[in-house]
Amino acid sequence: MKTPVTVLGLGAMGTALARSFLAAGHPTTVWNRTPGRSPELTAVRAATPAEAIAASPLVIVCLLVDDTVRSTLDGIDLTGRTIVNLTNSTPDQARTTAEWSASAGASYLDGGIMAVPPMIGTPAAFIFYSGPREVFDEHRTTLETLARPAYVGEDPGLAALYDIALLSAMYGMFGGAQHALALITGSNSRAEPFTNSFLVPWLTAMLTSLPTMAGELDNGPVGTAGSNLAMQAAAYENLVTTAQTQRVDPRLLAPMGELLGDAVAAGHGDEGLSALVGLLRTAG
Ligand SMILES: NC(=O)c1ccc[n+]([C@@H]2O[C@H](COP(=O)([O-])OP(=O)(O)OC[C@H]3O[C@@H](n4cnc5c(N)ncnc54)[C@H](OP(=O)(O)O)[C@@H]3O)[C@@H](O)[C@H]2O)c1
Repeated sequence: MKTPVTVLGLGAMGTALARSFLAAGHPTTVWNRTPGRSPELTAVRAATPAEAIAASPLVIVCLLVDDTVRSTLDGIDLTGRTIVNLTNSTPDQARTTAEWSASAGASYLDGGIMAVPPMIGTPAAFIFYSGPREVFDEHRTTLETLARPAYVGEDPGLAALYDIALLSAMYGMFGGAQHALALITGSNSRAEPFTNSFLVPWLTAMLTSLPTMAGELDNGPVGTAGSNLAMQAAAYENLVTTAQTQRVDPRLLAPMGELLGDAVAAGHGDEGLSALVGLLRTAG
């Protein structure tokens, strides 16, 4: 028989997780603060979090924020349970929840879901996990039902760190795309042809430079940059000026220009974009 699982939280994501477990034949118990959510699920419905947790050795938590996790689990005996918390958290929140879970008798894995709900159970989805390796290994097969599991280390904060790193990259990319679309649609051009013919191919081509950048960070620069920072900082002024003249708010664009200027002033003008990483770390 497949491992019985409990899912706490039937929002968009918790519902997708529960649906995936049910489709794979796991006996599945669910609980949600507001009763009656996702009525199509054929899972057993528990009346309280304690009842739901008592039903299965493996408990998946997918609530809105960290506070919600603590308030939902508070006061419940977690002895012998494994809690897998897929709620978005900071690394410090994950570490605190791991300690708190251990003190309540549970094994704990923290997770970061790199998917939107329709991707759950498809090859495109992956989920970061961190915490004790043996706990991950014990439940790996069950967790594979949801998405490709990517174990990133014993420190329970690591999954959140990797998750937040990828979300940060995503918002940078979407922020740039929103700015581009504001420029284009503000001059009465259509968004769709611009996006399909130019924006997506351009971003896709630019993404191929990331492994080189990463290699420079790990192994040092590989010679004179083809697109050096001094050139990029000079051109960047035109990006901000154009935003202003086109009456587009430059708030998403301006900080990168400041960073490029700082990098050139600090003597990195003949290096490539990977030099910015060191400046960001220093600033932090
Ligand atoms: N959706 C995505 O694309 C996506 C992708 C990756 C990660 N995530 C993460 O997955 C988690 C869940 O996201 P979601 O999309 O399922 O969000 P959602 O649709 O807004 O659902 C939120 C869930 O949290 C519950 N909740 C909120 N406040 C609560 C409280 N005080 N006590 C108990 N339960 C409470 C809600 O219960 P009620 O029904 O009672 O309100 C609901 O089950 C979040 O941490 C999110 O960042 C989401």
